[in-house]
Amino acid sequence: MLIFPPTVTHTFLSTVIKCKAAVAWEVDKPLSIEEVEVAPPKAHEVRVKIVATGICGTDDHVLKGSIPNIDYPFIPGHEGAGIVESIGEGVTCVKPGDKVIPLCLPQCGECSFCLNPDTNCCLKTHLHESQNLMPDKTSRFTCKGKAIHHFLWISTFSEYTVMPDSAIARIDDDAPLDKVCLFGCGFSTGYGAAINTAKVKPGSTCAIFGLGGVGLSVVVGCKSAGASRIIGIDINKDKFTKARELGATECINPQDFKKPIQEVLLEMTGHGVDYSFEVVGHTDTMVAALVSCHMGSGTCVLVGTPPLGSQLSFDPLLLFTGRTWKGCLIGGWKTKDSIPKLVSGYMEKKFNPDVLITHTLPFDKINEGFELLQSGKSIHTVLVF
Ligand code: APR
Ligand code: ZN
Repeated sequence: MLIFPPTVTHTFLSTVIKCKAAVAWEVDKPLSIEEVEVAPPKAHEVRVKIVATGICGTDDHVLKGSIPNIDYPFIPGHEGAGIVESIGEGVTCVKPGDKVIPLCLPQCGECSFCLNPDTNCCLKTHLHESQNLMPDKTSRFTCKGKAIHHFLWISTFSEYTVMPDSAIARIDDDAPLDKVCLFGCGFSTGYGAAINTAKVKPGSTCAIFGLGGVGLSVVVGCKSAGASRIIGIDINKDKFTKARELGATECINPQDFKKPIQEVLLEMTGHGVDYSFEVVGHTDTMVAALVSCHMGSGTCVLVGTPPLGSQLSFDPLLLFTGRTWKGCLIGGWKTKDSIPKLVSGYMEKKFNPDVLITHTLPFDKINEGFELLQSGKSIHTVLVF
């Protein structure tokens, strides 16, 4: 007689969860706190209870309509940290109870980009395909009987959110979620731009245009790479104290000079800086950053999100002489592999982005958090549920 081994069937006893979320119903309007329904995760999806989420400059850009492929209504937020609530069939990378960071740039691990060691721009990003819906082209969110779109697959401005398993990374069990949420975007983006993309060398000179949460993280990266001169540039001098605290050796305000800032930087350095970083997201500062780096060997890195549909105009001679111009997403990190390591580095006190958190607010005060960012009063606001 043939005896068949018992079939193991996993039952996924997950139900719809009702919770709080911030919904963007229309472009350029304040977010509205709503009760939403969050459906259970399907196969290869994970439902996460978000504990804390940062407000990043990109959330502000997206709400103003300057990011492509966004369908309304949607739930923004992409800098969160939380705990796995339930998993769909086939998920092996995390289990309920794990501490996690949702990945706004996924790492599917299978596409030609993921298999290429020289890029982190997985083919599953919104730059290739919209991430406004789950991979099966449906939404897990409803509100007032209406389907609500996701954002970058992770929508961290919801107390519970669902994401594909390619967009989640498990982190240390003892990581403080209200701090390490910054590793989901802001800190990793700026720090990686210096470490991975520019590959800043010891003893070099760096210039950082824009000293918001991301620009200050570039400062941290330049310092830890051993740069000896770090010049911070911002039109808001209130950002200078923190920049100096994190390692900037000089801070300048373009508005204090009659001549263009690129000329000021060339005079300060002789032939330009070794590395320049644009962390504002304006086309004029992008070109100014390029001009400011050494004409023969300088590298300029674009970190700030370019305005939707913008074009650059610049003298090609700037590149002809040997400058390198490049950009990066999330600091060039292959996210699923690297973000847990960055969090471990934080736990080992290798760097301390806590100083970038100027405000911690209850989630309901989300619009206050955006006002603080827009008025230049905050670096990073972390919202806690
Ligand atoms: N020159 C120098 N600094 C400027 C200029 C300018 N012309 N215009 C604005 N700034 C400064 C602002 O004063 C602010 O301190 O740039 C900084 C931008 O910081 P935030 O608005 O806090 O944004 P942040 O979260 O740091 O993101 C910066 O990086 O990832 C991208 O999408 C993000 O484009 C955004 C950029
Ligand atoms: Zn991929």
